[in-house]
Amino acid sequence: VSTIAILGGSGDEGRALALRFALAGESVVLGSRSAERAEHAAATVRQRLGADAIRIAGGTNREAAGAADLVCVCLPVAGLEGELPGLRAETRGKIVLDVVNPVGRVASGFEAMALPAPSAGEWIAALLPEARVVSALKTLSADHLADVAQPLRGDALVCGDEPAAKRRIFDLARRIPGVRPVDCGPLRNARYVEAATVLLLELNRLHRVTTGLRVVGLGGDARGGVAQTTGPR
Ligand SMILES: NC(=O)c1ccc[n+]([C@@H]2O[C@H](COP(=O)([O-])OP(=O)(O)OC[C@H]3O[C@@H](n4cnc5c(N)ncnc54)[C@H](OP(=O)(O)O)[C@@H]3O)[C@@H](O)[C@H]2O)c1
Repeated sequence: VSTIAILGGSGDEGRALALRFALAGESVVLGSRSAERAEHAAATVRQRLGADAIRIAGGTNREAAGAADLVCVCLPVAGLEGELPGLRAETRGKIVLDVVNPVGRVASGFEAMALPAPSAGEWIAALLPEARVVSALKTLSADHLADVAQPLRGDALVCGDEPAAKRRIFDLARRIPGVRPVDCGPLRNARYVEAATVLLLELNRLHRVTTGLRVVGLGGDARGGVAQTTGPR
């Protein structure tokens, strides 16, 4: 069992991921700017988990990142520059899972947000230069993740530059029922996944549904180059 910190874990996506990660056998620390909000979020997640509730704790984002061996960035774009540079020591050498979608609301619907880097994944890598950043799970909606009675019906699109770090995220994604991890190449490809999420949000708006994404034409376990790599997790 490892410990996963979820920065911004008091939001919908963070609490939903916490449920799925705990059910996958991981320990989770939900992070927040406020220890009180983190504990409240952890209590709401624990309530839903029964025997697995033991795996959920709460703390400040710093406490969560320091306690974990894998740190999930589940903050809105507006929080990245304020929160992450101060967590450089806590994330050094650790796998950082980026689930951030830089999407903004405009009068006509949703739009990709301009960032200081071509993708949120690359920006997070610039803000945390000693972390091992992997972008993944961006196309899985909080609604679907939170509905733990149902298996998901989407792919986990995984982008990253370090095969061992990607393999760890593959293993995690595979333990979420219904999820197929798909190797989407280097971190720079996160920009294309993030663009796809704008389309999913537009589809949700136009059709009044909650969509996800599954790629056709791939095998059952779409590991790409990741499978060939051996080494520590
Ligand atoms: N919602 C989805 O379906 C979904 C799906 C895939 C990916 N994502 C991505 O997951 C991330 C979280 O989504 P969400 O819907 O849970 O977002 P959210 O509710 O807007 O934010 C999550 C948490 O981040 C903290 N936060 C908010 N503004 C902040 C700021 N300026 N600085 C620092 N912390 C701040 C808040 O926690 P505290 O106030 O407690 O600190 C908040 O509860 C986003 O990047 C989103 O694009 C969401």
